[in-house]
Amino acid sequence: MNFAQRMTRLGTESAFEVLARAKALERQGKSIIHLEIGEPDFDTPAHIKDAAKQALDAGATHYGPSAGLPELREAIAKHVAETRGVPVTPEEVVVTPGAKPIMFFTILALVGTGDEVIYPNPGFPIYESVINFVGGVPVPIPLREDTGFGFDLDLFERKLSARTRLIIMNSPENPTGGVLDRRQIERIAALASARGIPVLADEIYRQFLYEGEFVSIMGLPGMRDLTILLDGFSKSYAMTGWRLGYGVMPAPLAEHVTRLMVNSNSCTASFVQLAGIAALQGDQTPTARMVAEFKRRRDLIVDGLNRLPGVKCARPRGAFYVFPNITGTRCSSAEVAERLLNDAGVAALAGTAFGQYGEGYLRFSYANSEANLRAALERMRPVLERLVC
Ligand SMILES: Cc1ncc(COP(=O)(O)O)c(C=O)c1O
Repeated sequence: MNFAQRMTRLGTESAFEVLARAKALERQGKSIIHLEIGEPDFDTPAHIKDAAKQALDAGATHYGPSAGLPELREAIAKHVAETRGVPVTPEEVVVTPGAKPIMFFTILALVGTGDEVIYPNPGFPIYESVINFVGGVPVPIPLREDTGFGFDLDLFERKLSARTRLIIMNSPENPTGGVLDRRQIERIAALASARGIPVLADEIYRQFLYEGEFVSIMGLPGMRDLTILLDGFSKSYAMTGWRLGYGVMPAPLAEHVTRLMVNSNSCTASFVQLAGIAALQGDQTPTARMVAEFKRRRDLIVDGLNRLPGVKCARPRGAFYVFPNITGTRCSSAEVAERLLNDAGVAALAGTAFGQYGEGYLRFSYANSEANLRAALERMRPVLERLVC
């Protein structure tokens, strides 16, 4: 079979590959602590599951409109207006199976051959993968540990060009846990709006913020009609396997993204969408409890990592990842990740899984029990103590 040339340009998300390798080791009888995959270990709250069961029983098992059920689009418009402080209409909302398609569809709709896209590196690997896939030119902005993994704004400004078609930002960020502060976001907004460049704001970790304020670029001057806001239910409501996400964008772009939905998924599962309404309108205390628990775990893992030889870990303000600097081990990220998996039974990701500027770092997800985090820290010590590369 001959494959299309474009497939050589499509990347992947190595969290899923490491997960598969870790599972294979488990099948051989090895004990593995999973700190590689980015999903809450909490169960979906009961009232959301009940809403899905009721929706199934009531017959919500058929095709629905490609852009999403009107009642969910309305609920999302209201939710985004309240949480970001901007008016939003249901016509600007597109519901998708998980939030990832919003990334894919937005880049497909806006970026042509040779068009440049600015994005964070280390960053979610799908950004770079899809930019390359559509023939765009990836323009990475290195995130530096000494600035709390924020954008280097002077570099950002220098990288803007007449060919920049899209800016991608992600705060709180995967994989660093970094959060852009108001001053940084205001400068990005000022530069983007002056040049009329759209911004894809990946806000999937909005609720996972442990200190400081959340600032959405969508609410800043000039950005209301230049922002594509990406959010969803996977992380905030522990619904990764349900596949429910959305984008909020100017109505003309929403029409294109809806057409991409018609051509790919037809629609998002109807009973899942009705559960999404229950998630947005129901009790928010399970999310608050989960976030409070994650904050405790963040402190536990940061303090524990800082006591390990060769490891230096900043305390991130958001998401549920830590991104420790492991240059003190004098080994590469890939080597350390490999040894931790094989010798310590701890699955983590090499920083390079998130781009070239991730070298010298590892990513641990702390969406795992306190007992497992403590056990992982204990298991890693002897391996790191005798690590030579
Ligand atoms: C930064 C970022 N954006 C988007 C997503 C995709 O979320 P979903 O599972 O809803 O497709 C993820 C998932 O890991 C993520 O880390």
